Amino acid sequence: MTQPALDFIIAALKKIRESTNHPPRASKTLLAQFQHAPFVAASLREARPSPARQQLQSAPNKAELLEPVRERVRVCTKCAHLACSRTQTVFGVGNPDADLMFIGEAPGVDEDQQGEPFVGRAGQLLTKILKAMNFAREDVYIANILKCRPDTPSGTFGNRAPTPTEMQTCRPYLVEQIEIIQPKVLVALGAVAVEGLLGMRGTMRELRGRWHAYSGIPLMITYHPAYLLRNQAPSEKRKVWEDMLQVLERLDKPITERQRNYFL
Ligand code: URA
Repeated sequence: MTQPALDFIIAALKKIRESTNHPPRASKTLLAQFQHAPFVAASLREARPSPARQQLQSAPNKAELLEPVRERVRVCTKCAHLACSRTQTVFGVGNPDADLMFIGEAPGVDEDQQGEPFVGRAGQLLTKILKAMNFAREDVYIANILKCRPDTPSGTFGNRAPTPTEMQTCRPYLVEQIEIIQPKVLVALGAVAVEGLLGMRGTMRELRGRWHAYSGIPLMITYHPAYLLRNQAPSEKRKVWEDMLQVLERLDKPITERQRNYFL
């Protein structure tokens, strides 16, 4: 945010504060992040002198801000059926300061057991894609729309897709994660992740390969790695790779000739 924009917001907040009995409200997370910007701190000190300031002076970092969200997720029982069936919740993994964040659908059986997103077969493929982009899993942040594995009838194999209600119920946790991490680029893996994030249904054919936005953050939509496991054609791998090249470009990462030519 630019200084004039911040000045404008702060002036507007002051005005509201002076002219109403209902002072402006903001979430603790947003306030703490706002407080990070050194040039904002002075204006806020003037506009909002309060005992809470002392607490905000040592503003927590992103990893610290994520912890209370992780704890709320850990004990969440909003979807009683999933709280009963899960081994554990799967919050997210990676670098809370990452520029790049991947969003998947929901934990599968491996993720449910290990408590980490994308560790099964699809996850291993995602890790390979990351490596080809010159990233380690620790460089990016990976999370799902759903933090619990969708339950399946006992004795059956495989995963089921999350329901719209489950996604709506769980989405606020992801929203908080994105709000804290503030990545420069988001990647949604598959149509279900898109539906969970944007509330929009569409075919991958029409959605992938171009820029969308979530809350002002550039969003690339691409195929879920599980799709690539089912469709091993080089043409499909190339499509995902082209989407990832766009992501690298957006992040101003250097791209080698070898990287440009993958899967051609
Ligand atoms: N598929 C997903 O969408 N997320 C995971 O964590 C694992 C598989």
